[in-house]
Amino acid sequence: MTATAAFFFCLCLAFSPAAEAGLYTASDQVVLLSEQNVGSVLVNSSVAMVVEFYASWCGHCIVFSPTYKKLARDTKEWKPAVNIAAIDCAAQVNKQICRDYEITGYPSIKFFHAYSKADSSGVTYRGFSHDVRELRHRIIDSLESHGEPWPPACPPLEPTSEAEINNFFETNTVQHLALIFEDKKSYIGREVILDLLQFENITVRRVLNTEKGLVAKLGVTKFPSCYLYYPDGNFTRLRVNFEARSFYSYALQRLPGVMRSGKSPPVVMELLKNHTEEPWRPFNSSQVYMADLESALHYSLRVELADHAVIKGDALIALKNYISVLAKYFPGRPVVTNLLKSLNSWLQNQTADHISYKEFKETVDDTPQVLDAALPEGVRWVGCQGSQPHFRGYPCGVWTLFHVLTVQASNTGGSDPKEVLKAMRNYVHHFFGCRYCAEHFENMAKEGLDEVNTLKSAVLWLWSRHNRVNNRIAGALSEDPLFPKIQWPSPEMCPSCHTVKFNGEHSWNKEQVLPFLGSYFSSSRILTDYLEAEDQILRKQREKHSHQLQDSLAQKHIERIAREALNPIRPSVQSRVQEGEEEEGPQEEDEGPQDEMEAYEEDNEGGKEKPAPLTSELEDKSFVPTPWTKTKLEEVRGHRIPSIIGMRLRRRQQQEDIVDLDSFVNQHFKAKALQLAASSRVKQRTLQTKVEQEPRPALSLGMELDAGLGMVGLQPMDADLELNFIPQGKSLKKRELAGQYFRREVELAQREHWMSVFSIGFSNVDISLCVILYGLSFSCLLAMYVFFRNRLRRRKVKVALP
Ligand SMILES: Cc1cc2nc3c(=O)[nH]c(=O)nc-3n(C[C@H](O)[C@H](O)[C@H](O)COP(=O)(O)OP(=O)(O)OC[C@H]3O[C@@H](n4cnc5c(N)ncnc54)[C@H](O)[C@@H]3O)c2cc1C
Ligand SMILES: *[C@@H]1O[C@H](CO)[C@@H](O)[C@H](O)[C@H]1NC(C)=O
Ligand SMILES: *[C@@H]1O[C@H](CO)[C@@H](O)[C@H](O)[C@H]1NC(C)=O
Ligand SMILES: *[C@@H]1O[C@H](CO)[C@@H](O)[C@H](O)[C@H]1NC(C)=O
Ligand SMILES: *[C@@H]1O[C@H](CO)[C@@H](O)[C@H](O)[C@H]1NC(C)=O
Repeated sequence: MTATAAFFFCLCLAFSPAAEAGLYTASDQVVLLSEQNVGSVLVNSSVAMVVEFYASWCGHCIVFSPTYKKLARDTKEWKPAVNIAAIDCAAQVNKQICRDYEITGYPSIKFFHAYSKADSSGVTYRGFSHDVRELRHRIIDSLESHGEPWPPACPPLEPTSEAEINNFFETNTVQHLALIFEDKKSYIGREVILDLLQFENITVRRVLNTEKGLVAKLGVTKFPSCYLYYPDGNFTRLRVNFEARSFYSYALQRLPGVMRSGKSPPVVMELLKNHTEEPWRPFNSSQVYMADLESALHYSLRVELADHAVIKGDALIALKNYISVLAKYFPGRPVVTNLLKSLNSWLQNQTADHISYKEFKETVDDTPQVLDAALPEGVRWVGCQGSQPHFRGYPCGVWTLFHVLTVQASNTGGSDPKEVLKAMRNYVHHFFGCRYCAEHFENMAKEGLDEVNTLKSAVLWLWSRHNRVNNRIAGALSEDPLFPKIQWPSPEMCPSCHTVKFNGEHSWNKEQVLPFLGSYFSSSRILTDYLEAEDQILRKQREKHSHQLQDSLAQKHIERIAREALNPIRPSVQSRVQEGEEEEGPQEEDEGPQDEMEAYEEDNEGGKEKPAPLTSELEDKSFVPTPWTKTKLEEVRGHRIPSIIGMRLRRRQQQEDIVDLDSFVNQHFKAKALQLAASSRVKQRTLQTKVEQEPRPALSLGMELDAGLGMVGLQPMDADLELNFIPQGKSLKKRELAGQYFRREVELAQREHWMSVFSIGFSNVDISLCVILYGLSFSCLLAMYVFFRNRLRRRKVKVALP
């Protein structure tokens, strides 16, 4: 027993990554050293490294770790020249490394030069301070004393001279030259040089106050101060709120023409209009738009949650809390808040230990019973628009939504300070499609959420963690070049939010940040531009319902007759391929209906109809049997083309011709039938199908590669609609469509008949053919056997006779 236990314990130790147990995680911008990467990171690397050797159990190390993390965040822009790393010497696997580097106490910090040799044990920082600023200065000292070979990405740090400046533009093509005038002891110049090393079209140099010629030429009286110097000899003072590092860096990074290396220059608005499929909606970037909040709700409730066919356990609790917080605090229009409230009361009344997403979705969409409640379909980003379809959008909407909710809870006096944050944390943890975002967020939440004990501190907590994320992903590929990640709000947006400490370090003026957030995200300031009118949403919703009911009845009938007559066997492989295809497609405005379409396809043959914009098509659409049937027949023939190309062609054709809404009715009736028919057998089977469904890959789309959240992840729905068909029909009475109901029953009866004749006839022929063929071949074989045996025997007899 003990041996087994010990074995499993060892297994756990061996397989749990050392990082998990250590003081740092992947979210901390600290390179996690281990046996595997220590060789490549510390030996012969083009980047100088600062390494902390620590033991996860050591109290000093635990106390020091927040400082070290802060240092890593603070020097984030310096990474190409000097990077921050850490290794846990308490982990058994790392023991030998720490011994090789002659570590005797924890924590130890060592500086490794670029292109260090394998036998180099680094330069130890003795008696280092627990102050980020002093550590940063120490790193600069190390870099300055860095002999050859110099880290290639590190710009020169030494002071410049008048002679050099005079010849500067003869040898350089950059647009901006920034000169920081300071005294010898000041580190600001060097810090700003490093802060801008990843930016193009700008060079920063430091000029000492002893450089009399330049000081006199530019008339510099204040040290430090920053000047922009131009090729024609002109110069201007850089205007900042405070003469301090972070203000210089922020202002210089934002000069026209300056951009992060490797980033394409920001697209001008005119070009942008052609880039995006949707029309660009001009917006004021210091305002919150209701359109973004509603779009985020739509995406969250109709698309993101749809990835979870069955929601149970902690995920169900998370969903309940999320909807409850929305119902309580979402400062929306009456239609939307009505919907959220009715959804919430429905959800809180669910006592089962699980719900299916389909039930949930029906409650979101099937709201005519509730007066004046609807969630507009589709996304319509305004303040969250990206310069490309894959930028911004939903994640921006999620942030905005939760900022608004924390502020709203604070303004209306919620009871539990952590209520909104917990709801967000658990929603993100269980459902947010960007899985590694969720992981990072969970790491952050684990760390500091306990400190939140007032509603105001909840607002500030979310703001500061959002800034932490901004810091971490600034410059990542997922960053929209038009909306670079900054520490928010910018000095322009809220000058009083920023201040400096006595030592020149930047600091947030929290007394000012809080009221700023309170007003920025307050419900009274949310703009309602670009919103669809409420009565229009409701009208559309009602029309959608009645049209869907009517049209689908007729369509379904003809369609099935046509299909079954031509193609009784269902090509299931094709439907799979098409589903895959659809997933790759760009995001559509109307995911909702598309969702329903998929339910339909599972049921039927897999023809993928793209619903046309609901507005016009639905209103004008009337049932015209003849041309429609024709298209359908063509489509069915198309199925026999066994290639993907064929399907693509056919699909395109279909998209132009048909708007199909069958699925809605299918789903709708099925749910009703399930409720009505108390038959538990039906219920069990339905649930089973859901469980059996292959889990769809979560939206694990790497945002560093591509902000994949712009994509739609649709969930296939049940494929068992056929079997529940009769009870579904019965539920129609409820919808007060008696005439339709009657017609449908007749059709149903006809169809059943057709089907049975067809299938039985077919299989009888099949079986008899098989039997006959089998008999024939058997007797044939027997005859051959007898024939050859007789011949052999005769031959043997001949041979035996002399
Ligand atoms: C919980 C969560 C975790 C994420 N984790 C990651 C991750 O690990 N890696 C990754 O690449 N992406 C992550 N993302 C996505 C990323 O944060 C951005 O949302 C996305 O890149 C879109 O950026 P954006 O420019 O629209 O601005 P966002 O960062 O989405 O901000 C939206 C708007 O909020 C305002 N804002 C900005 N900062 C603040 C602030 N500090 N306080 C209040 N308001 C602010 C601004 O007006 C901004 O336009 C995460 C998103 C969420 C919701
Ligand atoms: C170190 O790296 C450089 C290129 O980065 C390479 O040319 C050199 O051979 C490497 N030296 C060792 C000892 O690996
Ligand atoms: C520098 O900026 C100017 C003006 O904005 C621009 O024309 C030029 O292309 C930029 N240079 C580089 C190298 O990006
Ligand atoms: C946008 O595209 C249209 C045609 O597709 C073209 O005529 C127009 O010049 C483009 N506009 C810009 C600003 O590129
Ligand atoms: C944007 O909004 C801010 C804050 O309400 C306002 O001061 C500013 O004038 C607006 N800008 C434009 C261009 O409308």
